[in-house]
Amino acid sequence: MTGITVQPSGQACGAYITGVDLSKPLDADTINEIRAAWIEHHVVAFPDQHISDNDLERITQYFGNLGDEPFFVPIDGSDHVVALTRRADEKAPVFAEVWHSDWSFQDQPPIGTCLYSLVIPPVGGDTGFINQEKALADMPSSLRSKLEGLKALHSAAGAYSPEGAYGEKEKDSDRSMKILFSESARDIHPHSFIKVHPESGRESLHGCLGYIVGIEGMPEEKAKALLYELYEWQTREEFQYTHKWQENMLVIWDNRSVLHKANAGYDGYDRELHRTTISGNADLFQQAR
Ligand code: SIN
Repeated sequence: MTGITVQPSGQACGAYITGVDLSKPLDADTINEIRAAWIEHHVVAFPDQHISDNDLERITQYFGNLGDEPFFVPIDGSDHVVALTRRADEKAPVFAEVWHSDWSFQDQPPIGTCLYSLVIPPVGGDTGFINQEKALADMPSSLRSKLEGLKALHSAAGAYSPEGAYGEKEKDSDRSMKILFSESARDIHPHSFIKVHPESGRESLHGCLGYIVGIEGMPEEKAKALLYELYEWQTREEFQYTHKWQENMLVIWDNRSVLHKANAGYDGYDRELHRTTISGNADLFQQAR
């Protein structure tokens, strides 16, 4: 018995975990129980945790390795922790207000992400999640049959290339986050649309329009139509969980089975969270179906 309690959100995914102090090293049984809850609920939130950036790195490594952040300048003193910040008076568009799976354009994308809240506005700023196992399980066979065996082409060009949303056009912007654009954002990595989660054995969709820019071997117009049809299905409200933040809360999500996005609605208030990604070895990465 580890003493932890897992309370499901009652929405399509997500659970709250209490009864554990993340500022202290965790024993193997506790880590295993948290990992099982993470795989089951896809997104787990730990309220009322007082942790440092070093703790965040330690906790990340219970689940895999510290991932690389290709387009962010990490905080001073760390190679892996990045600050997601927005000042009360900032005019730059809210960062990441589009559905995505973190760094899905990498050859081996991070298996998960840890996000710890330091400053949370009194209104807005929720993070949305969508359960992609459920979206696939409930998908009409007419749509699924169009995706079977196909590979999506993932790229960060639309966001982090010089022409991307965070590229040269932001040179006079007041964005407080330290984002780096680069030619390397144009790289393309194919990934199967449907993958098998190596820890749950369940199938899931991986990624969506945005970082997905085409379909291997399919003409552009046909691919675009299918990507929109998929996007419409996989982002349906019935698959969603809206996470409401409190300060000093750690959230860990599974990039292999959810999409997520930031939400605006807090102009006039500061918001600051610290983030790491969890990279996995090949065994923890989803297998193509
Ligand atoms: C992200 O990691 O995509 C941002 C989430 C958020 O700021 O709510």
